[in-house]
Amino acid sequence: MAPVRAFCGPIIHALSSSELEIVASGAVVVDSEGCILQLLRHVDPNDPLGSIAAAMPPAPPDGPPTPITVHQLRPGRFLIPGFVDTHNHAPQWEQRGLGQGMHILDWLDAVTFPNEARFADPSHARRAYASCIDGFLRQGVTMASYYGSLHGEATNILADLCLEKGQRAFVGKCNMSRNSPAYYRDASIQDSLDVTEACIAHIRKIDPEGKLVKHVLTPRFAISCDNEVLQGLGEIAKRNPDLPIQTHFNEAEQEMKATKELFPEFESEVDLYEHFGLFGKRSILAHCCYMTEYELRRFEELRCGVAHCPASNMTVGGGFMAAPVREFMRRGIKVGLGTDSGGGYSSSMLDAMRLAIVASNAREVMSDGKDKGLSIAEVFYLATLGGAEVCCLEDKIGNFAAGKAFDAIVVGTAGVDQGVMTMVGEEDGLSTILEKFVMTGDDRNIIEVYVQGRLVKG
Ligand code: GUN
Ligand code: FE
Repeated sequence: MAPVRAFCGPIIHALSSSELEIVASGAVVVDSEGCILQLLRHVDPNDPLGSIAAAMPPAPPDGPPTPITVHQLRPGRFLIPGFVDTHNHAPQWEQRGLGQGMHILDWLDAVTFPNEARFADPSHARRAYASCIDGFLRQGVTMASYYGSLHGEATNILADLCLEKGQRAFVGKCNMSRNSPAYYRDASIQDSLDVTEACIAHIRKIDPEGKLVKHVLTPRFAISCDNEVLQGLGEIAKRNPDLPIQTHFNEAEQEMKATKELFPEFESEVDLYEHFGLFGKRSILAHCCYMTEYELRRFEELRCGVAHCPASNMTVGGGFMAAPVREFMRRGIKVGLGTDSGGGYSSSMLDAMRLAIVASNAREVMSDGKDKGLSIAEVFYLATLGGAEVCCLEDKIGNFAAGKAFDAIVVGTAGVDQGVMTMVGEEDGLSTILEKFVMTGDDRNIIEVYVQGRLVKG
């Protein structure tokens, strides 16, 4: 029998948007492929091996028992699922913090396009992307949906590095054939589509089953794409039902106005993307700050997912924008969190969680109390299981249900692990400790990170 590992200690994960499960002394039993065999909810802290062995299926009569390695978490540590970053521009790792306060189209021209253009150089891409992936893994992001730059080679390098470093990821060649400077625009409509197909083929070659890395179709936004590019991507989507799709949706007034001028035939961006075959269950829509009743209803019907990016919405794009997350949740529209790293100033999913609370408080005021602010348990769900649902990966990641991959974070809160997080008191229960971590923790509290059972930090 292949050996199994059992991670023993306190465990916290979301079962749904309204159910947070806190296990005081449990174990996640993981097989040699990095998959969860069992979640045990009652483990004797004085005899963890005994509790685990008793829960394992009996060994065959003629064979030895399954060897079990126990990883006992130290006092003050607990296990949570890895964070799912549903919206992340990998090249923008290099420009974080710049241009805060600018309106979206001005910020793209002044800050973003000059930065992303540098990824034409593969050696620059390799260096920057290695730093980006390391930086996100260090902060517990076990799954990211990445936009690349428009360059095929750089996008392939990003996928190679995710696989090599062990980060689960969607990686997309960014399609942008118009409305950007000549130095940073797809060479032609055909080239935009050909490079996309080549990236899909490359990623299928390095990870044939898409176990860790998948290509994601990535029209930057409608403003950047000729009709034929949107049409061609819709056709690729139809031929490849396994590929996710991502774009930006109703992010800011400047963007919505420009889209309307370019596509007067469509009343809403929903109709536009749906017309080109890009909207459905596997679509990840970033921002969604402004939503009409019609658009909310179409999101429900089409099963689109929302990547809520509070850091960028409140700093870049066009003032202070607070997406209607409570409304999405009320209607059962899938929603997760994105760092939009580069758009906002922060690459931290912990920041995304607390800023989601801030944005939701603004929303509560804007809605005269109708849309209640989000709780700690809710933003924790958004950062884990909610993100997995947005990426259609809820059967694989997001919590510690048996059969899922072991994508996890060991959080440390005491002694040398404390960093600058609010000090934990002896009287604190696990839910208070979680609250202190979510609101004041940082990467110093993220002690170990695992993806598919592989240790990627620690
Ligand atoms: N819309 C089109 N491109 C971008 C981008 O890079 N960031 C954000 N926040 N919005 C966009
Ligand atoms: Fe973005």
